[in-house]
Amino acid sequence: MKLQIINGPNLNLLGVREPDVYGKNSFTDYLDNLRKTYPDVQIDYFQSNIEGEIIDKIHETGFAYAGIILNAGAYTHTSIAIYDAIKAITTPVIEVHISNVHAREEFRHHSLIAGACKGVIAGFEFDSYRLAIEALIKNN
Ligand code: DQA
Repeated sequence: MKLQIINGPNLNLLGVREPDVYGKNSFTDYLDNLRKTYPDVQIDYFQSNIEGEIIDKIHETGFAYAGIILNAGAYTHTSIAIYDAIKAITTPVIEVHISNVHAREEFRHHSLIAGACKGVIAGFEFDSYRLAIEALIKNN
């Protein structure tokens, strides 16, 4: 089973960026643990600050992988182009957020991409990604 994790803008700074909101741990350490937890699952990782590169990765994996776990960062709240990319593919996409976006600023309450996704998981810190993997395994 092949899964693709995609992290969007500013998520390269996890561990450094606003640690009170996003935690103090690096995502690469978390990813290592995730791969150990699911030895039978191929978990590929891609991060980009560029909207078009995220869309290219969705196209590239969106017909071959069993699932995409997408934290689109702030593009969640702005990107019709990412919504369209998710609509265009056949692989199920789960929208994830580290923080509980609904408990934060109002502009984070609305997702432009959620309507194209299979589901949304938010607010469980890095564990949001593992919960998305569990959902994809169950629905596979
Ligand atoms: C985020 C929430 C977004 O509102 C924000 O722009 C991010 C991170 C999260 O994982 O909590 O960059 O997607």
